[in-house]
Amino acid sequence: MILIKFIAVLGFSVLVFVPAVVFAVSLIFHITAKLFTRVLGLARPMTPLMGPILDSDFRRAFQSPNVIIQRSGIQEGMKVVEIGCGSGAFTTYVARAIGPKGTTFAVDIQQKMLKQLEAKLKKRENRDIENVKIYNHSAYHLPFEDESMDLVFFVSVLQQIPDINKALSESRRVLKTGGTLAVTETLWDPYYPICATTIKQGIAAGFSLSKLDGNFWHYTARFKK
Ligand SMILES: C[S@@+](CC[C@H](N)C(=O)[O-])C[C@H]1O[C@@H](n2cnc3c(N)ncnc32)[C@H](O)[C@@H]1O
Repeated sequence: MILIKFIAVLGFSVLVFVPAVVFAVSLIFHITAKLFTRVLGLARPMTPLMGPILDSDFRRAFQSPNVIIQRSGIQEGMKVVEIGCGSGAFTTYVARAIGPKGTTFAVDIQQKMLKQLEAKLKKRENRDIENVKIYNHSAYHLPFEDESMDLVFFVSVLQQIPDINKALSESRRVLKTGGTLAVTETLWDPYYPICATTIKQGIAAGFSLSKLDGNFWHYTARFKK
């Protein structure tokens, strides 16, 4: 009898209590972050002062790089464009996942964010990484040839770009036919959109939805060109 009660309590905790707490904390964080950014009128793009927080193990405990890599469909040998790479919270993980035969093209509009990524790549623990190329460019004008990339991905970036359709159309231009666009969003981000919004934006830019992974508070929408 005690064992049955124990299993019932454990089951309840795992299936209901823990997800409810994660959701509640995410929602509170989202509302607080929204207050600080939108209501106080802080300008987009996100200030580079946030770089160390974005690139922190605390953040990655909630947004696992491996989960994002797997949901995005990033694979060994790929040519991958990371748009709005920021301080590089996920860049080194992607670089290792695609291996020496692949290349990560890390793009950001803010030089001060890219300086943080450069400093990260120079650290002793990242000296093995030689397949990251850094570009100080806008998502509107990517310095890549038509149909040259296997995959383009955005993590918590797309909604910060004023003309989303223009950015996605430019991503589409550089993707090979059959290439992948992956958009990851989390409720922690003050600009978080529900997945229906992301799907609508992808389709409006000429992509077709191939997979939707994750949950309400952290999802990846994968599209095909
Ligand atoms: C919230 S941060 C996310 C950074 C990173 N993806 C992460 O998850 O840690 C958004 C980043 O997108 C960049 N960004 C905003 N608008 C952009 C644009 N039009 N083109 C390229 N990057 C842009 C910002 O400079 C900023 O570094």
